[in-house]
Amino acid sequence: HCSLGVGPKATATAEPLLLNAVRGQDVERPPVWLMRQAGRYMKSYQIICEKYPSFRERSENVDLVVEISLQPWNVFKPDGVILFSDILTPLSGMNIPFDIVKGKGPVIFDPLGSAADVDKVREFNPEESVPYVGEALTILRREVDNKAAVLGFVGAPFTLASYVVEGGSSKNFTKIKRLAFSQPKVLHSLLQKFATSMANYIRYQADNGAQAVQIFDSWATELSPVDFEEFSLPYLKQIVDSVKQTHPGLPLILYASGSGGLLERLALTGVDVVSLDWTVDMAEGRKRLGHDIAVQGNVDPGVLFGSKEFITNRINDTVRKAGKGKHVLNLGHGIKVGTPEENVAHFFEVAKAIRY
Ligand code: CP3
Repeated sequence: HCSLGVGPKATATAEPLLLNAVRGQDVERPPVWLMRQAGRYMKSYQIICEKYPSFRERSENVDLVVEISLQPWNVFKPDGVILFSDILTPLSGMNIPFDIVKGKGPVIFDPLGSAADVDKVREFNPEESVPYVGEALTILRREVDNKAAVLGFVGAPFTLASYVVEGGSSKNFTKIKRLAFSQPKVLHSLLQKFATSMANYIRYQADNGAQAVQIFDSWATELSPVDFEEFSLPYLKQIVDSVKQTHPGLPLILYASGSGGLLERLALTGVDVVSLDWTVDMAEGRKRLGHDIAVQGNVDPGVLFGSKEFITNRINDTVRKAGKGKHVLNLGHGIKVGTPEENVAHFFEVAKAIRY
């Protein structure tokens, strides 16, 4: 193709690299960002936590949300800047009071267990309940100015349901499974409320500046494949279909931890990008998913505790296995507490120097 110094790569710079990559355009390297890139491993975040010990305040005050979201952007210049928030943030607006307690994690004050409990769950109205999210996204979009993609996110219906039924984080998922396997209709009505609410929340985030949205179905893989097909897949599909109707160009990314057993089924949701965890070999994952869908991942977050040389090798290995294009380099799950910041800096330096 004729080029007068304005080849596809040059014209592509108007849009963030991450969007070009997931859309299958010709890119010179994979875009890179890290799940949980804003958070406890950063000294600057720890300082904010001392001043504002409440997670809810940090994640619900526009100025703090913007400041924390920009902390990794200022230091590492990732290709994606994710909103600082939580998948549980919509819950209070749905009449499900919660908190995130230091050392304990999410706490749902009145866990849901019956049809009457589910009846009390309100559908989510983001404009009314979380105006700070829209304001923060608008500011982030202006600050980042297409030098990176501003990323929004939501929790998937099953993962949200597992928190509100279990009452918090869970090891055994016995309460949600008791509900699923003895009163499936009750769980289905809860999942439906989350599906409708999260589709609207994705639209709200996109309308206020998010350029791609990641759906976290962190605990979907607690389900066996037949149960995933009943309790997660239909709701994910519904969200994707519904968002695609109004926002056809908005890339949707789906993450599930422990995704190996469900990979092909995750692709059936219709998302644009499947985010792999590190239990899947990237080359095998790519093969199983096919080339129509983009992949994200999948370096073991534990690698960031290794030597610089090891980190470099693992990045190169992952990029080579993913192949050229349609790959967003990321970890296979969130950064762990205690990760050395200098290793995160090294990760980004190496990743951004890659050329296909
Ligand atoms: O990636 C980012 O930088 C954006 C911020 C973000 C947070 N939570 C901030 C946060 C994102 C994308 C999430 C998503 C989220 N929240 C998920 C899905 C991702 C995953 O890890 O699978 C889940 C399951 C939650 C629920 C949740 N919130 C948990 C399990 C915890 C950890 C509890 C603990 O103390 O270990 C939280 C709290 C939370 N959300 C923290 C952060 C940075 C840590 C607590 C803090 O910083 O005070």
